[in-house]
Amino acid sequence: MEKPTLQRENWGSRLGFIMAAAGSAIGLGNIWRFPYLAGSNGGSAFIIIYLGFVFFICLSIMLAELAIGRRSGLAAVGAYKSSSDNWTFAGVLGVLSAFFIMGFYPVVGGWALAYVFKSFTGLLAAPAALGDVFGGFITNPVQPLMWMAVFLIANVVIVAKGVSGGIEKACKILMPALFGILVIIAIKGLTLPGSSAGLAFLFKPDWSLVTGQTFLAALGQAFFSLSLGMGCMITYGSYLKKNENLPGSAFIITAMDTSAAILAGLAMFPALFAFGMEPAAGPGLVFVVVPAIFAEFGGAGVIFSAIFFVALVFAALTSSVSLLEVVVAYLMDQKKMERKKSVYISSAVMVVLCVLASLSLGVMSGVTLLGVGAFDFFDILTDKIFLTIGGLLLAVFVGWFVKKEDLRDELTNGGAVQFGLFELWYNLIKYVIPVAIGIIAFMGIKSITQTGLMIFGLLIIVVMAIFSKKL
Ligand code: TRP
Repeated sequence: MEKPTLQRENWGSRLGFIMAAAGSAIGLGNIWRFPYLAGSNGGSAFIIIYLGFVFFICLSIMLAELAIGRRSGLAAVGAYKSSSDNWTFAGVLGVLSAFFIMGFYPVVGGWALAYVFKSFTGLLAAPAALGDVFGGFITNPVQPLMWMAVFLIANVVIVAKGVSGGIEKACKILMPALFGILVIIAIKGLTLPGSSAGLAFLFKPDWSLVTGQTFLAALGQAFFSLSLGMGCMITYGSYLKKNENLPGSAFIITAMDTSAAILAGLAMFPALFAFGMEPAAGPGLVFVVVPAIFAEFGGAGVIFSAIFFVALVFAALTSSVSLLEVVVAYLMDQKKMERKKSVYISSAVMVVLCVLASLSLGVMSGVTLLGVGAFDFFDILTDKIFLTIGGLLLAVFVGWFVKKEDLRDELTNGGAVQFGLFELWYNLIKYVIPVAIGIIAFMGIKSITQTGLMIFGLLIIVVMAIFSKKL
């Protein structure tokens, strides 16, 4: 892979990059999805498997993505393409994943935004009705769409401003705020009577609940949470300066993302058990448990609830901008399109997908494709298939198609910094990780309930491998 010559936008500082990348990683995946996945997959055993995947598979993939992004100085498609047109499809798969994830992510972002305002308008007054309030809201044909639109517009504004002025500035303020508020909630939850059952659920594994599906769910979640497997970190890496330390950054980003997920679990489960609620509550978990916690605290609860949802919106926003940026950077790099125009065009497509996803939970719930509505279609297809296969492709690409010496050069900044674990990392990427992902994907895809959907997803990848060379 050649080093780039063109002038490219850069992150303003190392801290700015770390905050932006951690901002991308930490999002709805940590605070909305991780708790309900853990809750419905048996808690602790799922979490242990998840942590194993994060540190033995995903950390190395993150490093690989950052390395080839910076090396090529191009976003996902360009980075692959600069090696060979045969690899273009792996980047295009990433762009497609970005569209699909942005087909439901802003819908949930919109829910969070709505809950900021609902906190002030009596949400907490009737804790017993929280489940019904959530169900009623997300199935409404109009309201969630309006909030989704507001959320998407915020994305457009930030991404249109570019890398260091928009994305980086927003993340530097919003990420620390989020951590602060999660700690406060966790402390509140842990001090409720009866909360210790939640700790046991989080930290005492029950292995009888583990199946082939659990592994795929945990791996998919690890990729999703760390923004891997679709070129997002390749894209962010492409804006990195040559003197930044890649292994150190990858480690910090991974550690921050993991702490945010665990913190979200700590904020949710002790309280959930204290209230005698169901851990397997599904996607409504955060929207029901957190307001219920704050309802316990009288008048001040309203303020805390509003602040929590503001933080959730911010976390979602710093992630969704990175998804939008994957598409925008592709259009700018490969199609020579101007930034603003790329932003408008890609977000226009995303609005349509989001409308379908939102309506699929209510008025259009009868309309299904391969057995699922639009929301689940986008979610399952990306998280269970595209991201894991994307990660597998990346590992094979870096391990077998990029020169080892080029990788060493990139990871040590041309020998200027030490990376003692290089050989270990290289062997993981080249041999261990592709095999591991292959086994997990096979086990999980085989045992998954939506067989039609899985086959469809794999077909899309094959078709793209054949037809997307020129994209
Ligand atoms: N990681 C984000 C979250 O946890 C979502 C996200 C942002 C993402 N960029 C991504 C997921 C790229 C997969 C790929 O909410």
